[in-house]
Amino acid sequence: MELTMGSLPVANVQALAAASRDVPERYIRPEAGAHPVVADCGVDIPVIDFSRFLDPNSSRDESSKLHLACQNWGFFQVINHTVPKEVIEKMKLDVREFFQLPLEEKMQLAQVTGDVQGYGQLFVVSKDQKLDWADVLYLNTQPAPERCLRFWPTQPLTFRAALDNYSAEVKNLADRLLEIMAKNLELNPDVVTDKFKVGIQSLRFNYYPPCPQADKVLGFSQHSDADLITLVLQVNQVQGLQIKRSGEWFPVKPLPGAFIVNVGDIFEILSNGRYKSIEHRVVVNTERERLSIATFHSPKSNAMIGPLQELVRGSGARYKTVNHEDFMKLFFSSKLDGKSFLDRMRC
Ligand code: OGA
Ligand code: NI
Repeated sequence: MELTMGSLPVANVQALAAASRDVPERYIRPEAGAHPVVADCGVDIPVIDFSRFLDPNSSRDESSKLHLACQNWGFFQVINHTVPKEVIEKMKLDVREFFQLPLEEKMQLAQVTGDVQGYGQLFVVSKDQKLDWADVLYLNTQPAPERCLRFWPTQPLTFRAALDNYSAEVKNLADRLLEIMAKNLELNPDVVTDKFKVGIQSLRFNYYPPCPQADKVLGFSQHSDADLITLVLQVNQVQGLQIKRSGEWFPVKPLPGAFIVNVGDIFEILSNGRYKSIEHRVVVNTERERLSIATFHSPKSNAMIGPLQELVRGSGARYKTVNHEDFMKLFFSSKLDGKSFLDRMRC
């Protein structure tokens, strides 16, 4: 079967939200209220203090904490990390400004048939499927020579430089986290170089407009990420990310300056299920817009995606092995439906 990457064109949600208080039927989601949301119970996702890895007196402790976070949560937040504050603040400023541009300006970067990059909506594969209450700008950012600059904003003027810096710094942090995670799994260094180093990075700027019927829509359908690890930055103070935990939705409250990090499907497959990708979704606010930046990291494009031999011994492979390109094509040509995509990779 020929798979087409890319999404069917649908309405711009920011414009829709600005034009009327009516919420079209295609955005109303029966599942939005179907599962209980954990009330504020004083528990948060684990917090990893990156500076503790750099101190020989605390690095082992922090590594064990990270190992437990990956096994028990699949999500953690990282503070005191290596991405400079100025780089983050500049990116936040410019992405806010980008989404405030008039629609015609943003539409200069509209997605084109067959490509997932650009401004628009993702994972729309059929005319009757329900839609997410969000607009996105999705860009491939690494390797740098493969960037498709026609989709990169030129307004605000500093956007491209801000993104270039942000992309490099976040990639660096992702590589350092991956190295520690691989060590925690006692993987041999060759495997780490081949599969646990960032080859491909892509970045999704998410804009969730306010919605008068916020409890009936979803900003982002329930899904797991198809990468090794994702680093999410919440751009403004509006919360909305929820992770699935024991069948309930658990709201994430990011600390100031933190990245929310999650294990992706590729990590789950390579580790033969030692670390699992966790389903998550985004709910929206009735009054305020929400912005976030999700940065996805995957191995190089020619890496084979399958359980590592050394983790298969004894238990057998739980997932199929496929090449990275086919894996991504399959991912982008499916509707988001929890972990159903990963289920197709199971043996
Ligand atoms: C994503 C994602 C979460 C958020 O882009 O894959 O899960 O907080 N985003 O916007
Ligand atoms: Ni996600």
